[in-house]
Amino acid sequence: MTELVTLVRHGNVGLVTIDNPPVNALSHGVRVALLQVLGSASGDDELAALVIACAGRTFVAGADIKEFGRPPLAPDLPEVVEFLDTLEKPVVAALHGTALGGGLELALACHYRVAAKGTKLGLPEVTLGILPGAGGTQRVPRLIGVAAALEMIVGGALISVEKAQALGLVDAVLDGELTAAAIEHARRVADQRPLPRVSARRATLEDPDVFERCTKETHERWRGYLAPFHCIEAVRAAVDLPFAEGLVRERALFQELMSSSQSRAQRHVFFGEREAAKPVGLASDVPARELGSVAVLGNAPDAFAVADCFAAARIPVRVLDPGSAPFTELADVDLVLDASSGELAEKRELFARLDDACKPLALLASSASDLDLDAIAAATRRARDVIGLRLAPPTGRLLEVLRGRDTSAEACATALRLGKRLGKLGVLVTAKPGGVGQRLFARWSREAAELVAQGAHPEHVERVLYDFGFTRDALARARLASTQTQSSNGAAHGRSDREILERCVFALVNESARLLDEQVAARPVDIDVICVLGQAFPAYRGGPLFYADEVGPTSVFEFVREYHRNVGSEEWAPSPTLERLAASRGRFYGRP
Ligand code: CAA
Repeated sequence: MTELVTLVRHGNVGLVTIDNPPVNALSHGVRVALLQVLGSASGDDELAALVIACAGRTFVAGADIKEFGRPPLAPDLPEVVEFLDTLEKPVVAALHGTALGGGLELALACHYRVAAKGTKLGLPEVTLGILPGAGGTQRVPRLIGVAAALEMIVGGALISVEKAQALGLVDAVLDGELTAAAIEHARRVADQRPLPRVSARRATLEDPDVFERCTKETHERWRGYLAPFHCIEAVRAAVDLPFAEGLVRERALFQELMSSSQSRAQRHVFFGEREAAKPVGLASDVPARELGSVAVLGNAPDAFAVADCFAAARIPVRVLDPGSAPFTELADVDLVLDASSGELAEKRELFARLDDACKPLALLASSASDLDLDAIAAATRRARDVIGLRLAPPTGRLLEVLRGRDTSAEACATALRLGKRLGKLGVLVTAKPGGVGQRLFARWSREAAELVAQGAHPEHVERVLYDFGFTRDALARARLASTQTQSSNGAAHGRSDREILERCVFALVNESARLLDEQVAARPVDIDVICVLGQAFPAYRGGPLFYADEVGPTSVFEFVREYHRNVGSEEWAPSPTLERLAASRGRFYGRP
C-alpha cells in the first residue's frame, strides 16, 4: 500500500508528499503521518527547508468530510496546522488542482505558498454548514484583509490562482513542473529570517462598516443559514483578539456548527449529490452518444432559457417554433428537446412528426414531466430514444432525466453526460407523470392552497413556509394569493404556524415516500437532491426525507394517518414505505 505521507530529500530540501486519493483529504491516517514526518524533518539538521506537495490530481481538498459527525480522532487538524506554524525552518506549500478548506488552512500555516497555473483556492466550508476550523478564519484576514476574507469565507466560492496572487494568498504562480519549481523556491528562501508567519500579522480592518455591511448582505443571501453568521463572528475575532484567543473562539464556533442539524443536512446534500450522480440500474460503462447539435422546440421564455443552457455549454443550438418551423431543419440534429406546451394528443402527433424528420439515433426529449412519456414514445418508432429532460429551473443545477419504459440505457447515459456538459447534476428517475420535482412541488403547493381555501390567510401560509426556508420565488409559483377561499366571508380561521407547516411539509414527505413505493425514484437520496437542487427546498434541511428522519418518520406517519382519518382524501393515504418505517422505528437513511 502507498504511504500516505512520504519525505524525499532533494539536497537540503525535504519534499513532503501527501498521497491520499482521490482528493488528498486530511483523513486521520494523513494527520498522524504528516505530524510524524514533519516532526522528524524539523529535527533533521541536513534539511534547511521543506516543501509540502500532493500526489495525484489535487492539493489537499479539505478535511475528510466522511469523518465529520464521528468521534474525533487525535491528532485533529488544528493540532497539525499549529505544529506546522511552530517549525523553525521554512516550509513552502506547493498547490495544484483545488486547495480547499483544511487544505488551504494547511498551506496558510506554511511560510510560503506557490501554485501551478490553473489552481483554484477556496474555503467552501460554509456550504457544508460549518466554518474553516483549522485557523482559516484567523489567518486569512491577517493575510488579505478583512473585506476579502469575509468574501471568501462567508461566500465560500473558489477563486482563481491569479486572484489569489493579487490578494496575497499565494506568493508565486509557477510555470513548469510544480514540485521542481517549489523545491527551487524553497532553496532560495532557506536562509531568510525571520520566517514570515501569517499568525504573527495583524488583521487589517480597511473599513469599520465592513462587518455590518456583510451581515446585512448575508441576511439577504443566506437567510435561514447559521454558518455564514458564525463565519462573520469568527472573522471578527481575528480583528478583536490576539491570534491564540482567536483560534479558541473559532474552535467554539466551529464545534457549535459541527453539531448542528443544519450542518448534518448540508453534508448530507454534499454526499447526496455525488451518490445521486451514480444512478441505480445503469451500469457506469454504458456508452454515451456525442451530442454535436441540439434543437429546442418552443416559443415561450422557458424554451429560450433552456436553449441558453446549451449555448453557455458551447453546444450548437437552435430554437424552433413547433407551430411554424419546417422540420427539415431537424434532419441533422442529435437531440430535439420539446419545451413547448400542449396536451398529450398534440405531443403524440408532434413526436410522430419528429420521428419522421430526425435522423436515426437522434434523441427525442420532452420537458413536460406531467404527460405520459410512454404514450408519447409509443407514437414513434424509436421509443428507445425517447426520454424526458427537465431543466428545472433552467438557471438551476438540476437536470431531471425521466426514463420511459422503453428508453435505452444508452439514451440515459447520453442524457446524464449531457447534464455534466451543462454543468448540472443529472438525476435519473422513472417517467411517471409529474416526475419527481414537479409532482412534489404540486403536492405541497396544493396543500398550501387548500389551507388558504379553508380560510387561512395567504400571507400567513407564505410566511410560515418562507420561515421554513422555501424561497419567495417558489412561493410565488404556488400563487396562494389568487386562491379562492371556500368560506363565505373569507375570514381567516385561526391556524397555527405548526399546523400550516406540518400539513405542507408532511404532505410533501408522504408524497416523497410514495415516489419510493412506486419506484419512480430508486433511493431517498434522489428525491432529496431533486428537491434541494430543483425545488428550492432549503439545503440546510437536507431534503424532505432527510428532514423526515430528523423529525422522526413515526411522528410524520402518525400525523399523516390522523389527517387521512379526518379528511379521508386519497392523497393523504399514508405511503406504505412511511408506514413500514414507522412500524419498525426505522429511518429513510437507516438507523442512527
Ligand atoms: N472529504 C472526503 N471525501 C471527499 C472530500 C472531502 N473533503 N472531497 C471530495 N471527496 C470525495 C467525494 O465524495 C467523491 O467520492 P466518491 O467518488 O466516493 O463519490 C470523491 O472524493 C471525488 O469527489 P468529486 O466527485 O466531488 O470530484 P470532483 O473532481 O468533481 O471535485 C472537489 C473535486 C472540487 C475537491 C470536490 O470534491 C469538493 O468540492 N470537495 C469538497 C471540498 C470541501 O468542501 N473542502 C472543505 C472540507 S471541510 C474542512 O476542511 C473543514 C476544516 O476546516 C477543518
